[in-house]
Parts: sequence; C-alpha cells; structure tokens
Amino acid sequence: MRIGGEGITLTDAHLKETERRSETFTLAIAPLAGRHGVCFVVSPLNIRSKSIFYGNFRNKADGEFFQTAIKRFRGIFGSVYANDNVILFDRTLGFRRDRELMQAFRHEAKSDQEKSLLLRINTLAWAGQQALLTEGDFVECGVWRGFCSSVIARYLDFGTLDRKYYLYDTFQGIPEDQDGEGHNSPLFREEGLYESVVERFARYPNVRVIRGKVPDILHVEAPSRIAMLHIDMNSSAAEIAALDVLFDRVVSGGIIVFDDYGWRGYRAQQLAEDEWVGKRGQRILELPSGQGLLVKR
Ligand SMILES: C[S@@+](CC[C@H](N)C(=O)[O-])C[C@H]1O[C@@H](n2cnc3c(N)ncnc32)[C@H](O)[C@@H]1O
Repeated sequence: MRIGGEGITLTDAHLKETERRSETFTLAIAPLAGRHGVCFVVSPLNIRSKSIFYGNFRNKADGEFFQTAIKRFRGIFGSVYANDNVILFDRTLGFRRDRELMQAFRHEAKSDQEKSLLLRINTLAWAGQQALLTEGDFVECGVWRGFCSSVIARYLDFGTLDRKYYLYDTFQGIPEDQDGEGHNSPLFREEGLYESVVERFARYPNVRVIRGKVPDILHVEAPSRIAMLHIDMNSSAAEIAALDVLFDRVVSGGIIVFDDYGWRGYRAQQLAEDEWVGKRGQRILELPSGQGLLVKR
C-alpha cells in the first residue's frame, strides 16, 4: 500500500493548491522530487476529506488537465467516484448502503490517506464475511498502524467470534534483505508504533499483535488453519516468504487478498505472486482497486 513517505508525505508547503469550492470539488497538485505526485479531490462520499491520487503529476498543467477531466466527467455522468487512482462513474457502489461497514470505516479512518481507501476496504470486508463461511483464523502480514484490520475487526465485531486475528509486522519497516524494490518508508518505523497498535486492538481479546519478521516469526507463532489472509508488506520477497509458510494453511474457500498486486510501482509482486500461485494451478484476480484476490481451492 502506498503511503506517505513514498512520495506522498505532503505538507502544505509542498502543495501548490488550486482550490475550487464548487460541487464538493477541490484539487491540489504536488510536484515532488520523484516520479509521483498527488492530487487531492474531495470525496464524493459524505465523509469530509481529501481523496488521494498517486501519479505523474509533475507539473501544474497535468494537474489542471486532470481536474478539468474529472469535472467534465461529473458534468456528463452526475455521479463520479474518484479516489485512490480509481475513477468510476454510473456505478451503484452499493456497499455504501452497508451501515455497519460505513460506520466501521468512518470510525477507523483518520487520515485523508485512510479515507481514500474505501474500495480496498470493501474488498477486505467482503473477504472477511466470506471467510466466516469457512473455518480458520484471520491473518494480516504487514499491519503498519492497523488501519485495514481495525476496520475489518470492527465490521465483523471480531471480539465476539470464536476465531483469532493474527497481525504480523516488524514495526520497524521492511527488513533490508527483503527491500529489493525500495518501498521502505520511515513511517513504518514511527516511534511507539507497536504500542499504539497493541492499544488499538486492546478491546479485542482474540486479536494478537505480533512483532517480528515474516517469515521467521511465522515459525514461532501462526495458526494452522486460515480463513482469511491479507498480505500487504510492500516487498515481493517478504510476500512470497509468507506464501511459502501460510498458503497451505489457508482452508479451501478461504480468501487471500494481495494489497499491492495491481499497482504498477509494485509490479515485482505481481510477477512473483503470479508465478508462485500459477505453479499451484490457481490464478489471482486483479481488481480495479489494485488489489489481487484469490479464493483458495
Ligand atoms: C503498507 S504497510 C501495511 C499497511 C497496513 N496493511 C494498513 O492497513 O495500513 C507495510 C508494512 O509491512 C511491514 N513489513 C514489511 N516487510 C515485513 C516483514 N518481512 N515482516 C513483517 N512486517 C513487514 C512494514 O513494517 C509495514 O508496516
């Protein structure tokens, strides 16, 4: 998952902001040192937030073109969802009628970046619910501040379930020997990160926040039957290592979600994961959100 620090940690000083307050529409362009810029568009949800776009907004003209294009879309289609590098129009987005999901999302999403992730959260919420039709525990490899898993835990009222949720992270970032693709971020090493995640899940007696490197830590403590596995470590080496240990433990009908699978900047993951899963005669579905989805057989 792209987060601040990978080209999107922006302060107001970074932003040259053009702001137009018409029809909940605001856009700001962030010309950054690297390839990635960020464009903020006010969410069409009734959540007051800026929506985050990642991309090659290298100059003001590109950003203004993007702004104009979305505005035209709105004019043509009336209803446009624009967030997290997804632009959808004329869609029902019916999951927004799921009160529990939207409440859980609103409760846990604090930053603009988190608020931009509704489509990904919808995938995980679906995966979590489907996983409840099978036996086994829930696992997330790559937790960071615990955002995704906190929404799912709240949505499923996880504390009432007879299952465990295992959350693995170094809480120190991507280990050096696994960061071949260069996606580490200082934000993954925030001071007090582990403690804050433990605190975030304190209300759930059945959520285990486990500090350690994947795959090593999985040999110390990991469930034998997994209903849902969310892999989000921003490293193909780490993610393949997780599959090596955990894939066979995912029950038939269990769900695996690969967070970065379809993102161009994370292509190494898709190539490695396709090859790994292909050898087992299965195939990952690339979702418009950029996630990869596999129903284990
Ligand atoms: C993009 S963040 C995870 C985001 C998280 N899923 C969320 O809901 O916001 C990636 C995380 O993977 C962790 N990570 C990367 N490689 C790891 C490894 N080998 N073992 C454990 N954690 C790892 C990093 O420390 C970082 O916190």
